[in-house]
Amino acid sequence: MNFVKTIRERRSIRKFNSIPVEQELVIELLNAARQLYPSREEVAFRSMYAGTADSKERLAVSMLEPLVKNRLVKWLPEKVRDFVRKRVTDIPGHLIIIASTDADRRKSDMNYAAVCGIMQNFQLLAWLRGLGTLWDTEPMMQSKELFELLKLQPNERLVGIFHLGYFDKAPRSRARTQAEKKWTILSSGGGAI
Ligand SMILES: Cc1cc2nc3c(=O)[nH]c(=O)nc-3n(C[C@H](O)[C@H](O)[C@H](O)COP(=O)(O)O)c2cc1C
Repeated sequence: MNFVKTIRERRSIRKFNSIPVEQELVIELLNAARQLYPSREEVAFRSMYAGTADSKERLAVSMLEPLVKNRLVKWLPEKVRDFVRKRVTDIPGHLIIIASTDADRRKSDMNYAAVCGIMQNFQLLAWLRGLGTLWDTEPMMQSKELFELLKLQPNERLVGIFHLGYFDKAPRSRARTQAEKKWTILSSGGGAI
């Protein structure tokens, strides 16, 4: 497998078609992504899948609740709410990834980083199967209402909601910052030049 090509060509997908995503495929990809991530330690995380009309509706309602409750946007036209709700319910599947945290900051960071590594593997493996993903961490996903729905515990952290679906057209890639632009040399005197 040409992994450089896969990494280079994978794109975040924001426009999905209506072909359903099989839950079994998502589980298979998650297992494969975990196996490809080298880690001596156990990586502590859990996932939740919203793929039915009912579960996507519940997810949409929880995402919208803070907006609806907010006095400033109380007047939010029904049309806008429906647009957001439809955007969530039209997406074939939502994979929610929750990492465990630890009182020890280093342990916590190591675990979170490992979960992120696994999920990047997941996105690449999904791409190879023609399945598009969008790793979503928007502030809308950080609400009390959503955390309640996910039963997020004090020792847990939401890594992201991965929107999943097949797509008709992949977007073009964005320009990347060249490494030289973020490059400094530690001088012998201790400072950076
Ligand atoms: C940790 C992480 C969080 C992200 N959160 C969001 C997000 O909240 N909203 C979004 O539109 N894209 C999000 N993305 C996707 C990036 O914006 C996307 O990777 C970037 O636009 C580059 O596009 P590409 O994946 O097609 O190369 C996230 C990606 C990562 C790795």
